[in-house]
Amino acid sequence: MKKLKIASIPGDGVGKEVVPAAIDVLHTVADMHGGLKFDFEEFPYSCEYYLEHGEMMSEDGMQRLSDFDSIFLGAVGNENLVPDHISLWGLLIKIRREFEQTINVRPAKQLPGIQSPLVNPNDFDIMVVRENSEGEYSSVGGRIYRGEDEIAIQNNVFSRKATERAMRFAFDLASKRRKHVTSATKSNGIVFSMPFWDEVFKDVSKDYSDVKTDKQHIDALSAFFVTNPSRFDVVVASNLFGDILSDVGAGIMGSIGVAPAGNINVNGKYPSMFEPVHGSAPDIIGKGVANPIGQIWTAKMLLDHHGEEEIGQVLLDVIEETTNDRIVTPDLGGQHSTTDVTQEIIKRLRAKA
Ligand code: NAI
Ligand code: MG
Repeated sequence: MKKLKIASIPGDGVGKEVVPAAIDVLHTVADMHGGLKFDFEEFPYSCEYYLEHGEMMSEDGMQRLSDFDSIFLGAVGNENLVPDHISLWGLLIKIRREFEQTINVRPAKQLPGIQSPLVNPNDFDIMVVRENSEGEYSSVGGRIYRGEDEIAIQNNVFSRKATERAMRFAFDLASKRRKHVTSATKSNGIVFSMPFWDEVFKDVSKDYSDVKTDKQHIDALSAFFVTNPSRFDVVVASNLFGDILSDVGAGIMGSIGVAPAGNINVNGKYPSMFEPVHGSAPDIIGKGVANPIGQIWTAKMLLDHHGEEEIGQVLLDVIEETTNDRIVTPDLGGQHSTTDVTQEIIKRLRAKA
């Protein structure tokens, strides 16, 4: 029996509605599997927790979380209680940084029955792998003077280690998919870091002779995400490029309520963290209409991460059957509740057992 110890942090707003839904789904998956068991422990870290304790998590919070196999997070943020920069940096970003979650993975896939804003989406299925620890989001630089002589300098940091790490992750992922990696570059305009990025990509690709590669400048690549997304399998990008590109990916999917994400620790020292892309959705809290699919798809990524790709695929198939039959929440134009969609997914999973 494989036991996975998962720390759940529902967080704020609809996080508290979709995390329990996805946990029910994961327990169902484990029952079907037979050889898998989830041991969840819930942590109350949230903006409400902050009001009570003056901090987003307890002092021993990181220590306690480090004992788990993975972290399953809902959403963080309630501007009425705590400014966003405090809540996000005190919990979400703290975990990403301190647990060395140096890779961010975001699928962008067309779900059947969901209207993409694209006229001809043509069944796209992309994984954006983003370097999540350095690159353009470094804290090297400075500002000098004020007024018309003012200067701001922001340095980019590209280490071979982190660049290679992101690329190897992308190639490993592509090896299990359609065996194609696209590198997001801009070596025609950025003359030091991006030619370096291209060189590392070329070096790493030599170890994966069965994976096809190409590179695209980020500007053209962004346009292709809109005009012809089905040509991509795995796309590897620097921190900034990946951040923007994965949002284009979420955009063409049709609703932020379905988009999942993984923050991956690849050195095995700390747990990885899985969370949907959406936030706490203050405008729909308590109405019972939050779309649980983003969180449930996030659960599929957690399964994949722990080597349970087969059952992860079954879960994604069931999600797709459910959207295809239009058992969907109002953000997707349906009239079903969070519970309806969750129960439908559980029912269909059981039918496959
Ligand atoms: P948001 O993602 O919470 O909401 C944007 C829009 O999408 C809203 O209209 C909302 O109703 C809708 N939406 C989001 N998730 C949905 C779901 N599961 N089902 C149906 N509709 C959904 O982004 P917003 O409004 O900018 O931020 C609200 C709070 O969430 C802020 O405090 C922000 O800092 C935080 N936030 C946290 C994130 C995280 O925990 N990773 C990510 C984004 C925002
Ligand atoms: Mg972003």
